[in-house]
Amino acid sequence: MIYSIRQVTAFSQMNAVKSLISRFYSSSVKVPVLPPVSFEPQPYKGPNYNDVVNSRNTSISPCIPLYYKEPLMISQGHMQYVWDHTGKRYLDMFGGIVTISVGHCHPKVTKAATDQMHKLWHLTSLYLHPKLHEYAKKLTDRLPGDLKVCYFCNSGSEANDLAIQLARLATGAFDIISLRNAYHGDTPYSVGLCGIGTWKHSFPNGFGIHHAMNPDPYKGLWGGSNCRDSPVQTDRKCSCGVNQCVACDMYVAQFEEMLSHSLPKKIAGFFAESIQGVGGTVQFPKDYLKKVYGIVRQRGGLCIADEVQTGFGRTGKYWGFFNHGVVPDIVTVAKGMGNGFPLAAVITRKDIADHLNDALVFNTFGGNPVACAIGSAVLDVIDEEKLMENSHHVGTYLLHSLSKLKKKYEIVGDVRGKGLMIGVEMVADKESKMPLPKLKMDALLEDTKHMGLLVGKGGLHGNVFRIKPPMCITRADVDFCVSVLEKAILNVIKS
Ligand SMILES: Cc1ncc(COP(=O)(O)O)c(C=O)c1O
Repeated sequence: MIYSIRQVTAFSQMNAVKSLISRFYSSSVKVPVLPPVSFEPQPYKGPNYNDVVNSRNTSISPCIPLYYKEPLMISQGHMQYVWDHTGKRYLDMFGGIVTISVGHCHPKVTKAATDQMHKLWHLTSLYLHPKLHEYAKKLTDRLPGDLKVCYFCNSGSEANDLAIQLARLATGAFDIISLRNAYHGDTPYSVGLCGIGTWKHSFPNGFGIHHAMNPDPYKGLWGGSNCRDSPVQTDRKCSCGVNQCVACDMYVAQFEEMLSHSLPKKIAGFFAESIQGVGGTVQFPKDYLKKVYGIVRQRGGLCIADEVQTGFGRTGKYWGFFNHGVVPDIVTVAKGMGNGFPLAAVITRKDIADHLNDALVFNTFGGNPVACAIGSAVLDVIDEEKLMENSHHVGTYLLHSLSKLKKKYEIVGDVRGKGLMIGVEMVADKESKMPLPKLKMDALLEDTKHMGLLVGKGGLHGNVFRIKPPMCITRADVDFCVSVLEKAILNVIKS
């Protein structure tokens, strides 16, 4: 059999990862123990693992990557835990990419879905149905100011597509600004907003979209010892006084310089996440968004907050933009909104929403009764179980625990985030901040999985652990997560 160079490289990398893993386990590593749970999963009775792997290789588009050398097949979930086909339990600290907000198969949300399924599944939006209106009211009650008009759709990308359209219709201007290192979706329209090269391909995208310098206090040109709204700061030093942030001012100056060199006087809008998600949990200097919102508005533009990852209590506040002291003109939401059910929305003021009358927009499934029943139950659970508060308390505890790893280990370059939106940047060494080599990052990820922990990875170089679990996790889960990470780090250092 003849293998391509790509295949040979993949095999050799896989073998190197295998040998790292086997060395770890031969050194009799004591594996941390998961906190106990009373839930009993059903025994797995579905198709054979190998058949599923084969079907994945033959019937599913190869562009969708799988984590892990031996891909994980999950057959059941309950709150913050999932079980694979062998019955092994894992703590899910990635929540299906920041999407399981209140817990896998949360009983109240599941009941709301099944109750609604017995009544009415689908209806065209050409008729009224009560769930949509009940949900829209409940959702907008949680938003500040005049953000009272919703347009429901099914994904974050769709929501951002519509927000682009809306900003252009409402302002009569064309140009839009987003940030380098941002991710806002993967439709031909929304991908234009993205500032991560991995998502860019050789086809036209991003007409009229400009990317400003990313205000990243850890790796960017400027940053100091108190830039971030986080319990953990970078190791960079600065001599800024109280209420002063030179890094913030420098990044804002860059933003203004870009405007004066590259954009017309009137602009349509500015998109930003409150904390960048896919980009590796990057936080901006505290006043950056406030200052930039002011500049954008002076140019007639609208400010759009992408709350797809940061919304619904994840950062310890209901909306991530609350942490920045701003009120956007348009908010886009998805992911945690439906706790895993496809549900998204664009929320804005009536004076802006009215401009959609100039361009008919239609969405078959957006705001269907089942989605609205689920979204409504998710809001109830967030409030009743005080999950926003839990995100704050448990998230702060997790950040402090992770920062101890940063102090101890040279390869832990940065720990950052707020609430349960956390990133751990793994580096070759603290001085260079070069990404930890892929082989070692892969070995870390494999090792954590073997020990029963699921975390994500992100950032341009895939060297940032993304820790964004269901918001119901406990301090015991945090202790488990941090011990597993520490054990995996020690293993990699020893190898
Ligand atoms: C911040 C942000 N915006 C938009 C999207 C796109 O959402 P979807 O995958 O639902 O289209 C994502 C997805 O990861 C995201 O993280």
